[in-house]
Amino acid sequence: MKDIDLDCCYESNIESYGYDGEGVARLDGKVVFLPFALKDELVRYNLTSSHSTFLNGMVCEVLRKSPLRIQPPCKYFGRCGGCTYQHTTYRNELQIKKTLLADQLRKVNFESKIEVVESPKEYGYRNKIRMFVGKEGLCLRERASHKLCKVDKCLLVSEKINRAIEIIDKFILMQNLTDCFSEVVIREENDHLAVIFYKKQGKNKINYQGVYLILNDFTGIFECENGVIVHKMGNDFLQSDEHGLDCKFRPNSFHQVNKYLVETLYHFVAENIVGNTIINCYSGAGVLSGFIASKNKRVTGIELGLSEHQDAEKLKEENNLFSCLTNIHGDCGEILPKLIGADSIIVDPPRSGMDKKVVETLNDKNCRRLIYISCNSATFVRDVARLCNYKLVSVTLFDMFSRTGEYEVVGIFDKI
Ligand SMILES: C[S@@+](CC[C@H](N)C(=O)[O-])C[C@H]1O[C@@H](n2cnc3c(N)ncnc32)[C@H](O)[C@@H]1O
Repeated sequence: MKDIDLDCCYESNIESYGYDGEGVARLDGKVVFLPFALKDELVRYNLTSSHSTFLNGMVCEVLRKSPLRIQPPCKYFGRCGGCTYQHTTYRNELQIKKTLLADQLRKVNFESKIEVVESPKEYGYRNKIRMFVGKEGLCLRERASHKLCKVDKCLLVSEKINRAIEIIDKFILMQNLTDCFSEVVIREENDHLAVIFYKKQGKNKINYQGVYLILNDFTGIFECENGVIVHKMGNDFLQSDEHGLDCKFRPNSFHQVNKYLVETLYHFVAENIVGNTIINCYSGAGVLSGFIASKNKRVTGIELGLSEHQDAEKLKEENNLFSCLTNIHGDCGEILPKLIGADSIIVDPPRSGMDKKVVETLNDKNCRRLIYISCNSATFVRDVARLCNYKLVSVTLFDMFSRTGEYEVVGIFDKI
């Protein structure tokens, strides 16, 4: 193989896509990953790094454009690490995601059709944003880097959150507070906002009155220092009335971010349940458990996070689900082995997937159906291979995070 020159410019056709949606080309037998290049394009590029089996590069010119290339609507696209697919049509993004998932599933011998459920909104669907505080104010992270990228707006979040970004950014800059905070989280539910200011250790007391008055009384202001969240002003809960339930969330409790698709996801899960007894592992703030319990099923939820568990208990109380819903606070690896079987078990673990103990317990458990909701296809595929006493019967891709490289996978399994 010829020496590869990192200072040189190369030209290649894009043959396929890598796992992060980058274009894949070949140079002297090596694979080259080229972010934001589309299949069948001819591109000119520089190499940015060389590894034993692959190269990374950056496109400097698209010599032959794909008809599926579009103008990205966001001025930060390419630099900001949030979005992956703004340079192509939403149809093509879904096709790429489906192809990448199918490639991964082939490794565990799943060859059947994958159904895709698109997001009703390509942009403006997110109900939460985590921003970093840099010298210039509110920022997001740059792509594949810890460097900060100053942004004044994010197209993935609602207009209300964008207005809050503008107000909070001004507050931090005008009060010279850039050195006091590391992060700011903004969440929205039903037009109500919660803002958590992550204060650096040892900084002076901060007066939030000014920013609270501009954000108005539909907002709750919280401060987090040393991992402890303290309510400062306004509403102390976020409220919503989704799936016919009265829900209250603490500002740091997990909640699904795409409010336009979550109802479809939960209905899909409920429709695929068999029998009347359900265990819901990694149950978060209990919305899915409550939704299923309200359909005359007996549900046991298991959740490790204390604030999520407390929210789940509140949801049970406010919606009078005492007779059909039990929420257990603890680790699925510890709790699940102690429970007798159920007709259906739902698992919705974090990105790291299920630990071995949970998989082993599931393999031994008396259960007819397993429904696995995953936000990381790599750990999903790993766990499919380990779930040896189950047959994967269907896979559906829910595009909960449109325009980004992420999506949700729901696998339906039957016990062999
Ligand atoms: C992806 S969220 C799912 C939440 C819920 N199913 C929903 O739709 O809102 C994963 C949840 O698992 C919880 N969790 C993480 N590790 C856990 C463990 N070992 N045992 C139980 N819960 C865990 C997290 O606190 C989080 O609430």
